[in-house]
Amino acid sequence: MQRRNFLKLSGLSVGSVAAGGSLIGLLTGCRKDHHRGLKTEPVWVKEGDFSRLLSFPSTAGANHTITAQVTSTNLNGATIPVLGYQPNRMLGPSFRINRGDAVNILLQNNLSEHTNIHWHGLKIPALMDGHPDQLANAGGTFRYQFTVNQRAGLSWYHPHPHNKTGKQVFQGLAGLFIINDAEEAALNLPSGSNELPLVIQDKRITNSSIPYDPSVEEIMAGYMGESIVVNGVYAPYTEVATRYYRLRILNGSNARVYNLAMSNNADMVIIGNDGGLLSNPVTVKEILIAPGERLDVLVNFSGTATGTDLFLVNKKFGYGGDAQGVQSFRIMKFKVTTAVTDAFTVPATLSVINNIPSSSAVRTRTFEISNAMEHHGYPMNDGMKMRHRINGKLYESGRIDETVAANTNEVWVFNNSKGDEPHPMHLHGVFFRVLQRTGGRGNIIASESGWKDTVLVMPGETVSILVPFENNPGKFVFHCHNLEHEDDGMMLQYQLS
Ligand code: C2O
Ligand code: CU
Ligand code: CU
Repeated sequence: MQRRNFLKLSGLSVGSVAAGGSLIGLLTGCRKDHHRGLKTEPVWVKEGDFSRLLSFPSTAGANHTITAQVTSTNLNGATIPVLGYQPNRMLGPSFRINRGDAVNILLQNNLSEHTNIHWHGLKIPALMDGHPDQLANAGGTFRYQFTVNQRAGLSWYHPHPHNKTGKQVFQGLAGLFIINDAEEAALNLPSGSNELPLVIQDKRITNSSIPYDPSVEEIMAGYMGESIVVNGVYAPYTEVATRYYRLRILNGSNARVYNLAMSNNADMVIIGNDGGLLSNPVTVKEILIAPGERLDVLVNFSGTATGTDLFLVNKKFGYGGDAQGVQSFRIMKFKVTTAVTDAFTVPATLSVINNIPSSSAVRTRTFEISNAMEHHGYPMNDGMKMRHRINGKLYESGRIDETVAANTNEVWVFNNSKGDEPHPMHLHGVFFRVLQRTGGRGNIIASESGWKDTVLVMPGETVSILVPFENNPGKFVFHCHNLEHEDDGMMLQYQLS
């Protein structure tokens, strides 16, 4: 942040600092109270009336052109400009791809600025991954060609141009990428109209735009909106029958963390996460999902009388800092309209997740993410700016921060023990296992078994992950998936070679 803003927010005038001496002394002298005067505020959600029908983006296959564009849609009463990959709605098509398919997707950039696509959750070559260096200029194109060779799961795609990711995603650019395989098909999970892909996002909606202009405080907390949309529809409802549904959930929000639950406290059976199926289903009443994370959840409506309205809700949660978890609200409505008999039973075993012994790790790297400010043992090296950093560093495209040998396992540790903001940490190009969480919540949660690509590190927490790096040489980024933090520089690069 700028000196002037810091002074304003900390209740000091420029004159008082000049009189009192060094601003650096003021900054480096602070410890626990370093954000005093910078307390971030929640953005309170305004529930709608759940009268809009939930819709789903169209489905696309392995050969497709998507066009990043300014389009318009009616989110909340007025038709306003948004960004999309197809006309008249936010979001892009949901790709449905079989394991083994060769993908050939042309991005046509009809925006007036550069963009690109990162395939979040795909293990593909570095030059296809949507690295911030690999851009389609305004009016230009970028062709993505790769073969999908990974297990079934829910991945997604979104722009990744440094400094613009937050804005482009918030205004509507994102989509789902669903991989199917034979192992998953053999489970006969609810499919067709009983499989509901749900992209949950919060938007700030005025009657003329989705404004994106984060203040200093909004860069600290992340940019949040008062309107919760699902698949780009504000406060939607969908009709369901008295049977099991498979909810395939992406938190596509820039910064907001949700603690999902059913309004009737029904069981949520978690069967998968970022990297696909878990080994066994886990039944919970509520489950946290941070920006970038995915959940595969079975919900059984069979005990519910027709005529009943149920809601997917967000419950309050702890450890989220000042701006998160302080409000409960409803996200979408399920109208139970049709009585059916459902023979589905939840399989007891879903997949095989090979355990990798942590003793196989050839090294441990620790990343200090308690930052926001610079004084946790790292020098202030770029003036008076308060920025989000990893190990004291801001993103620089020309600098390799970590060099990793192919076909080795490593432990990476994200230390937010002194921090006061949640950081969902994401690595490109790999899936990892979550080994341990200390401080804060103190435990690994149900959705963190299996393979992950994004892990939430709450204030006070230190999280260790085990990363098997395969032979996929190139330069990849890793970063906080709070998109304001990422755009602010909370992103580094590793070179796999
Ligand atoms: Cu979804 Cu680099 O992120
Ligand atoms: Cu600090
Ligand atoms: Cu962050």
